[in-house]
Amino acid sequence: MVTVPVDDATRTRIQNLRLARGWNEDELADKAGVSDTHIRNLEDTNSGRGPNFRKRELDMIAVAFGLTLPQLMGICQMPTGTTYLPRHFDSLIDQCRKVDQSLLPIIRDLTIEDEMVDGAYRDLLAERLRQCGYRRDEIMDQIRNRYWLDAVSNQVPPPDLTIDIDDQMQSLVYRFGDVAVDIPNPQLVWDCHCDSPGTKYDSSYCPFHSSEHKDELDSRMSNGHVAFNYHGHKFYWRRGRELWPPSIDSLHMLSDLESYGLSELRCKSLLDLGAGTGFLGICATTRNPNITTLTFSDWLLTPCVYSMTNWALNRASRRHVTASSELGLFTWWNKLGTPTYDIVICNPPYLPIIGDHRDLRGRSTVAGTDLLKYIICHAKEIGKQVFIQFSNLAAKDACIAEQKSGNRLQPVGDPHSVPFRVPAALERPEYLARLETLGLQLNHNHRHPYWHTVRTYLIKSYDTHC
Ligand SMILES: C[S@@+](CC[C@H](N)C(=O)[O-])C[C@H]1O[C@@H](n2cnc3c(N)ncnc32)[C@H](O)[C@@H]1O
Ligand SMILES: [Zn+2]
Repeated sequence: MVTVPVDDATRTRIQNLRLARGWNEDELADKAGVSDTHIRNLEDTNSGRGPNFRKRELDMIAVAFGLTLPQLMGICQMPTGTTYLPRHFDSLIDQCRKVDQSLLPIIRDLTIEDEMVDGAYRDLLAERLRQCGYRRDEIMDQIRNRYWLDAVSNQVPPPDLTIDIDDQMQSLVYRFGDVAVDIPNPQLVWDCHCDSPGTKYDSSYCPFHSSEHKDELDSRMSNGHVAFNYHGHKFYWRRGRELWPPSIDSLHMLSDLESYGLSELRCKSLLDLGAGTGFLGICATTRNPNITTLTFSDWLLTPCVYSMTNWALNRASRRHVTASSELGLFTWWNKLGTPTYDIVICNPPYLPIIGDHRDLRGRSTVAGTDLLKYIICHAKEIGKQVFIQFSNLAAKDACIAEQKSGNRLQPVGDPHSVPFRVPAALERPEYLARLETLGLQLNHNHRHPYWHTVRTYLIKSYDTHC
């Protein structure tokens, strides 16, 4: 009997290959024609079994994966197109960020006016993925795979900082170790005014920077795994230009939708367009018992992975819901001409690009109104009920899209006044002056000097569109 020593790297590789295909141990055993105990022993680094396994069985497992034994053992390279995303959470996110960071400077410059935009985005994405050894369809199948996702979500590290958000947003508690920093009546989820130009209030008034734990809070917020706890749900986030955190805007949108009757809406499918951490889609799906299909979409890979991981962490009471993720610009991954979603929720970037400030696109996650205009124009093709939230600063662009398409924005709830805290905009006095003409409010009596309003709308579609 010929035996082969199997090291830990090979055991992990076998498990990754299995999870990437969505097979459980029994399924792999079945496909390979070996016993399930054999597979469990093989994958388990702590099984206590010696390192040697029968070559014949390893051969059969390699064949089940469409590989040769040297490829399975890591001695020869995998054939192209079989590189899978890592399962270890930190390595996974590092890989996603690597792809996104090379995409960001270019895709933020693509605009809706350009007919070639979708092709340009797809080519660029394919090229960046290829450079990292991935193929789009394969990694998206992997991200949608329940077994793989369970394995990823089981490995999410404990948070370095947790933020407990009160249901009514009347208090926030930041926690790490035994420390709890309480922020009553917050205006923002990170309610700091310190670097706002024009504020008369110094850091001794700041809820964070007046705290004895300010350095630790800053460092954990900037570099750590942050978990937002809201309404019994947990949302992981880590600072980076690729991933937007759950924000006061999203909380307002959710409460507007709830007042509108979100939990009773007769709907089966929901699209969270521009999903970020998946905060809106996850909260909406857990509130409405009728939803059975949840789709997250984003133009970056990191949000696709975070939203699905956050779903895996929060889906306990909604195991019957099928969740998936789409990577793409706008909704151009969805080629169907009829509305495919009962409900669409989106709070797109809203900061208008004015005059010489085109470079803002590359500097801020909320810069550019392309997605906003796209949704207003294409609401009818995207879904039956399309809800959108944006700032009054984007009202002019929204109005242009309304006029072009003939669609109308019907307010859902009242406008909410929130501090305007976009660093890339706040450091440009001339741009701020232009925003003031669009409705940016100055309030020198508040520690946050600049304010805008955000409001939720339902898009009423008519037949013509741009
Ligand atoms: C303001 S964030 C909102 C994130 C999330 N919905 C939430 O409430 O936390 C906007 C999101 O839209 C995504 N996005 C921006 N432009 C996009 C586009 N043209 N196509 C698809 N996604 C886009 C961004 O990556 C980001 O995740
Ligand atoms: Zn501060």
